[in-house]
Amino acid sequence: MKLYGYLGKPDLNAPRAPMAAETMPDHAIAGLPVDPHGSPAKRRPGLERRMNQITPSDRSRLQGAEALPRFATVEQLIEQTRPVLPVYCIFPERFALAAQRFQDFPGDALYAVKANPAPQVLDQVYAAGIRHFDTASLAEIELVRRRYPDARCHFMAPVRIAGAAHAAFHKHGITDYVVDCDFELDKLVTETGGGKGLRIFVRLSTPLGGALLELSSKFGTTPEEAAALLKRVVASGAEPGLTFHVGSQCLSPFSYAQAIEMARRTAELAHVEIAALDIGGGFPGPYHNNDVPPYRSYFDTIREAVDALPHKPDLLCEPGRALIAEGVSVITQVVLRKDDKIYLNDGIYGSFDELTLPGWTADYPLRVFSVDDGRHPVLQPDGHTPFRVYGPTCDTLDVLPRPLMLPENIKPGDYIVVDAIGAYSVALRTTFNGFYPDSWAIVGN
Ligand SMILES: Cc1ncc(COP(=O)(O)O)c(C=O)c1O
Repeated sequence: MKLYGYLGKPDLNAPRAPMAAETMPDHAIAGLPVDPHGSPAKRRPGLERRMNQITPSDRSRLQGAEALPRFATVEQLIEQTRPVLPVYCIFPERFALAAQRFQDFPGDALYAVKANPAPQVLDQVYAAGIRHFDTASLAEIELVRRRYPDARCHFMAPVRIAGAAHAAFHKHGITDYVVDCDFELDKLVTETGGGKGLRIFVRLSTPLGGALLELSSKFGTTPEEAAALLKRVVASGAEPGLTFHVGSQCLSPFSYAQAIEMARRTAELAHVEIAALDIGGGFPGPYHNNDVPPYRSYFDTIREAVDALPHKPDLLCEPGRALIAEGVSVITQVVLRKDDKIYLNDGIYGSFDELTLPGWTADYPLRVFSVDDGRHPVLQPDGHTPFRVYGPTCDTLDVLPRPLMLPENIKPGDYIVVDAIGAYSVALRTTFNGFYPDSWAIVGN
């Protein structure tokens, strides 16, 4: 993978001058009301006024990492701000580690923006050295190009809104596209004015091997149809490529080998030498209740399968989850307890949509903190009592599909820190019932 981030670009993670606790901007988490029970705001008059000075329009302006408050640890954040709304914590060193892993990938890693398009997160991905972005809409393309003029976007959605390819090609100079049927190929070639100068990837559907979430029933086609499309791509003057997505949270490296072999057969059927192979996303996040093989075994398996191809294509992958899951935690608070039911300030209409997907068996790692002395958050021992966990909205469906194992004595005011929440959480939150988690902080270095 090509990494450019350490070469003189603005380093969004550069350590700032250390702030003494007294001078730490306590207003820091913009827009957050504070806990009336023993919050720092209550103890220090003036803070509340300063918090209120940050207006909603300031909030949307102060979006990227450079505008975010910093804390050494999650405990320090809880102690100093006592948040009553969910707070997304960004851990820059975890983003850096995730991107570093992909240095062993034998090609280019494109960040799949859909996994988390928040500017605060994109900034971390960029700062970690990623310069290629898998974008699936004009809005994603515009977001990336506005923010990182030196980044390269690839339009890898197989279905595009009418006119999107025209704007992507003529306005943004995008040359990589995906198709999985004649209609989309015709539309693409018409809108871009011919295939010349383009690289067009035909998407294969692959069997659901080791992935929790399949991504081959909506998009992708058979080797036979893909072979026919490949021939048409060549006839259009474009460079031919193949792509697939083995499914998200793929726990088996072998799924990639199987799909690469399918690509080999397709190219052979078409008698086409493919210029590029994009093996999609699917690399797993580090959740509990899932056996995640080491990344090295994915890359070794992929390298071996690619080496078996008769010609060496350019190799790409499109990780979403793997580049950002670990980099974000969310601090939530228990609002109410009724026996073995607890109500949180975040739910499935906020950060936890992915838990509701059929086939999703993974659990986010959890940490529970109590603030019993009114000041210092104390990490609680791992819990073994099952609790039904509800979100803050009025909808009965706003409940986590499986109970969480929590400390028996958990109570309102306690904090549940949900780790590895970066993927498909922020991206899917809604404003339903007036709840919209959108407070951010940087934690650690
Ligand atoms: C075309 C495409 N590429 C990449 C991704 C990212 O997948 P993952 O987050 O599993 O790596 C997705 C996810 O939906 C996708 O549809």
